[in-house]
Amino acid sequence: MQDYHEFLDEILIDATTLQERISELGVEISQDYKDKDLHLICILRGGILFLTDLMRQISIPHTIDFMAISSYGVGDRESSGQVRLTMDLRDPIKGRNVLLVEDIVDSGYTLASVLGLLGTRKPASLKVCTLLDKAERRETEVPIDYVGFVIPNKYVFGYGLDLDEFYRELPFIGVVNEEKYTPPDH
Ligand code: IMP
Ligand code: MG
Repeated sequence: MQDYHEFLDEILIDATTLQERISELGVEISQDYKDKDLHLICILRGGILFLTDLMRQISIPHTIDFMAISSYGVGDRESSGQVRLTMDLRDPIKGRNVLLVEDIVDSGYTLASVLGLLGTRKPASLKVCTLLDKAERRETEVPIDYVGFVIPNKYVFGYGLDLDEFYRELPFIGVVNEEKYTPPDH
C-alpha cells in the first residue's frame, strides 16, 4: 500500500479545523432539534467518522441508524445518478425527525436518490447534514440544511472518504495528486 505522503497534494482541512466545525454543527443541531426525537442516519461507508464525531457534539438525546448504497457508476469517480440500496435501515422512520449524515455531496445524484427513497417512508421531517459540499459540481439541485465546508472541485480523501477503499482512517481531508497516486492491485 502506497504511503499517502507520496500523493498528498495538500491538506485541505486539518484535523483541528474539522473538529472545530463539527463542534459548531453539533451546537446548531442540538438547538434546532431541542425537544424533538432526533434520528441520525449515516450512509455507509464514507460518513462514519463524521457521524461518530458529530454525535459526540450533539447534546440532546438522539438515535442512529445506518444504510448502505452503491451507485451504478459510469466510472469509479463519477456518479451515475442511480443508486441501489445494499443495506437497509434497521428501524422504520415513519413519523421521526430524520437527519441524514453525509460525507460529501458532489453531483447531488446520490443524495437526491436517497432523499427520494426515504421520503416515501413518511418521516416527520427529513433534513441533510453534509461535511463537505463540492458546490460547483452540482448537477441536480438538492436541499442541504447543514454544511461543514464548501470545497473546490478537487478529489479528496481521508476522514471517511476513500481512495479505492483505503485511507479512510486519516484524521484530515487531503487532496490527491492523481499523477502520483497508484491504485492498489487487488
Ligand atoms: P454524487 O452522487 O456525485 O453527489 O456523489 C456523492 C458520492 O461520491 C459521495 O458520497 C462519495 O462517496 C463520492 N465522492 C464524491 N466526491 C468524492 C471525493 O472527492 N472523494 C471521495 N469520494 C467522493
Ligand atoms: Mg458517500
